[in-house]
Amino acid sequence: MWGFRNAIGTIPWLVLCADPSLANADCECGYSVNKTSDARFGLFTELQENDFLHSKGDNVTAFGWRPQQFNVSKGDATNPYGKDFEVQNLELNPLKDTKSWSGESENGGDAGMRLWVRGDHSHGYVSSAELASVRDDVLYGSVRVGMKLGQSGTCGAFFFFFNDSQEIDMEFLSREFNNSQGAVNLVLQSLESAHNRDAANSSTYHVQHLDFRPDQGFHEYRFDWTPNRVAFFVDGKFIYEMTENVPAVGGHLQMNHWSNGNPLWSGGPPTKDTAMTISYVKSYFNSSATAPHQEYKKRCPKLDPAKVCQIPDQTKAPNGKDAQTFFFSQDGPGKTPGQETFPLTNKASHHVTPSSPLSIAIFAAFLSWAFFQ
Ligand SMILES: *[C@@H]1O[C@H](CO)[C@@H](O)[C@H](O)[C@H]1NC(C)=O
Ligand SMILES: *[C@@H]1O[C@H](CO)[C@@H](O)[C@H](O)[C@H]1NC(C)=O
Ligand SMILES: *[C@@H]1O[C@H](CO)[C@@H](O)[C@H](O)[C@H]1NC(C)=O
Ligand SMILES: *[C@@H]1O[C@H](CO)[C@@H](O)[C@H](O)[C@H]1NC(C)=O
Ligand SMILES: *[C@@H]1O[C@H](CO)[C@@H](O)[C@H](O)[C@H]1NC(C)=O
Ligand SMILES: *[C@@H]1O[C@H](CO)[C@@H](O)[C@H](O)[C@H]1NC(C)=O
Ligand SMILES: *[C@@H]1O[C@H](CO)[C@@H](O)[C@H](O)[C@H]1NC(C)=O
Repeated sequence: MWGFRNAIGTIPWLVLCADPSLANADCECGYSVNKTSDARFGLFTELQENDFLHSKGDNVTAFGWRPQQFNVSKGDATNPYGKDFEVQNLELNPLKDTKSWSGESENGGDAGMRLWVRGDHSHGYVSSAELASVRDDVLYGSVRVGMKLGQSGTCGAFFFFFNDSQEIDMEFLSREFNNSQGAVNLVLQSLESAHNRDAANSSTYHVQHLDFRPDQGFHEYRFDWTPNRVAFFVDGKFIYEMTENVPAVGGHLQMNHWSNGNPLWSGGPPTKDTAMTISYVKSYFNSSATAPHQEYKKRCPKLDPAKVCQIPDQTKAPNGKDAQTFFFSQDGPGKTPGQETFPLTNKASHHVTPSSPLSIAIFAAFLSWAFFQ
């Protein structure tokens, strides 16, 4: 018994304390843009993170995204083609080496989730791709996507959508890319733009020049949406803000990649298959639904700044050695209390601590050793 009493004060407790599954949870009061001590900060209660460099399988719904399947006929004469959104144009193409953040992908080409626009449009439709988040309760948030655009006459977009006048768009037209330059069309749709089916004259339409080609590498595109303002960022740098027509109802996030040959918008269509590739999506947002609020109140009855986790800024284009980016869902099990996390194959680049059953087994082995001294 002497040996047992002495030893129990040290080794077993060390083993148990090292097990992160037994550590206190963190981030119970949510995720913040800026520090909670800053003059201005945004606080969000919900999280959805997708690490598409390490997402495998053929079911994107298992990662929180619904593939869309629908046709749009070409309509008026400005559009030479219709659009045909097809599930088979979505492809999860992870890195072969699950421990790496760069290298060869399973199917070749850029690793990530690919949205294909097909070069064959002999049937009068351009075969395109679209996804909508399963969560349709997104109301305010900081939403970030690692993305490389397609080439030769497509529109690639990342957006928030409720209806045609409650919408935040970041749209890329490959026909606007030249030499080493690019552009992104930033739009908050309004009743007027919905009515005219054209945002061009609206105060909340802005074409932002970029000093790189969005189809030549991955960059982080982000919007911070709060009740009075939408601020847009590229690779962590603020580029533009809008304070009118700010959406005020909950909806879903969406991504699409398409062409209808309209020379004034998508251009094209492309004559060979071209992909828009998503390396990650990180969304920190508030919910317009009741249940998530009740859950939040349970885990954070009173706002405690010590239980708010600041969202780190991505400050570089997420390519090459900078392709490894931060995910709360990969930063130990305590950082996503009450949140939905998705299948992740990349665990190995993080410190692997013994699982609970293993530490219990070690403890049990120690106990029997101690008792038999
Ligand atoms: C974060 O801080 C910057 C700099 O003060 C400010 O412009 C921005 O509005 C803040 N963001 C939020 C979401 O409050
Ligand atoms: C998000 O919800 C939390 C909890 O209700 C609230 O404290 C915070 O101000 C909300 N954030 C925004 C940007 O409205
Ligand atoms: C895809 O995943 C979703 C969510 O996990 C599940 O409900 C659905 O049944 C899956 N579909 C297939 C074809 O496996
Ligand atoms: C869309 O149109 C294509 C080409 O005409 C056709 O093959 C496909 O079945 C249609 N899909 C839907 C969802 O209507
Ligand atoms: C979109 O929804 C808002 C809020 O419900 C509504 O006021 C607006 O009229 C709708 N816009 C369109 C184009 O239907
Ligand atoms: C936008 O403004 C220009 C110049 O005032 C005008 O020619 C054009 O018709 C307007 N377009 C729309 C959609 O209102
Ligand atoms: C290239 O594109 C940028 C952004 O769209 C534009 O500002 C610039 O004038 C263009 N340059 C040339 C030479 O066309």
